[in-house]
Amino acid sequence: MRHLIGIEDLSVSEIESLIATAEDIIANPQKYSACAAGKKLATLFYEPSTRTRLSFEAAMMELGGGVLGFSEAQSSSAAKGESIADTAKVISCFADIMVMRHFKEGAPMVAAMNATVPVINAGDGGHNHPTQTLTDLLTIKREKGRLDNLTVGFCGDLKFGRTVHSLITALSRYTGIKLVLISPKELTIPDYIKNEVLDKKGLPYVETTSLEDSIGELDILYMTRVQRERFFNEQDYIRLKDSYILTPEKLDTAKSDLCIMHPLPRVNEISVGVDKDSRACYFKQVLYGKYIRMALIKMLLEAAQ
Ligand code: CP
Repeated sequence: MRHLIGIEDLSVSEIESLIATAEDIIANPQKYSACAAGKKLATLFYEPSTRTRLSFEAAMMELGGGVLGFSEAQSSSAAKGESIADTAKVISCFADIMVMRHFKEGAPMVAAMNATVPVINAGDGGHNHPTQTLTDLLTIKREKGRLDNLTVGFCGDLKFGRTVHSLITALSRYTGIKLVLISPKELTIPDYIKNEVLDKKGLPYVETTSLEDSIGELDILYMTRVQRERFFNEQDYIRLKDSYILTPEKLDTAKSDLCIMHPLPRVNEISVGVDKDSRACYFKQVLYGKYIRMALIKMLLEAAQ
């Protein structure tokens, strides 16, 4: 049984195949409209979501399948104390594939160990968000034409931002990648990412607190929200939340073909004035998320047959 818990569960050639399928779906949607006919996708969301849950549901519908699920823990039997392991066994009776978002790191892995259908991690605590990473890789491929030889800036909450951790892990497998890690000192990238990914793979990176000083060298600027829900102390969140706000003026020194990404939701970190800039890719990124999730559902359902 194939699951997707972390981006490292997919080989580079499998990622390339998923991207190729997503691009074919974009070009020929009708060809895929019955791929999941008669199949059901369960969405188990113990944490809030707009894009991930609804894009999975839209993806399954566009593949001709059905959807069921819950969007908050309190409306499920988790509120009565049911374990993740038991929930996974129960949902396996109803659905052909399940997608889980959970506030606890490792919860989707526990589900995968107990399910008899494929499990997809839709975000576990501050740990991983592999389908956002697939979305980001498709976005980079579509907007830049390549996944190698890029200088990528990550800006904002690099400590708690699970999308950052997953995307850095994925990019570490391509050649010619340089990283510029822009964050307040309190929100730098965790040591385990530095040790296990950056240092182990020999990926060149610099850490800085200044967006203005580094924006001019970037091919990709990946902005992130300060993750309020992961802070222990509201005062720290308030002090750090507006550390970086991308404005049209700050783009004056950026490359003309810079690709500005954000996993969304944004709070203040990109001003709405940037939205009309041709370099703003974050709403296109949302749509790419639906296509890559269609490709992933198709792949995992076929592997489960
Ligand atoms: N990017 C992302 O995970 O968005 P949601 O929290 O709305 O799913």
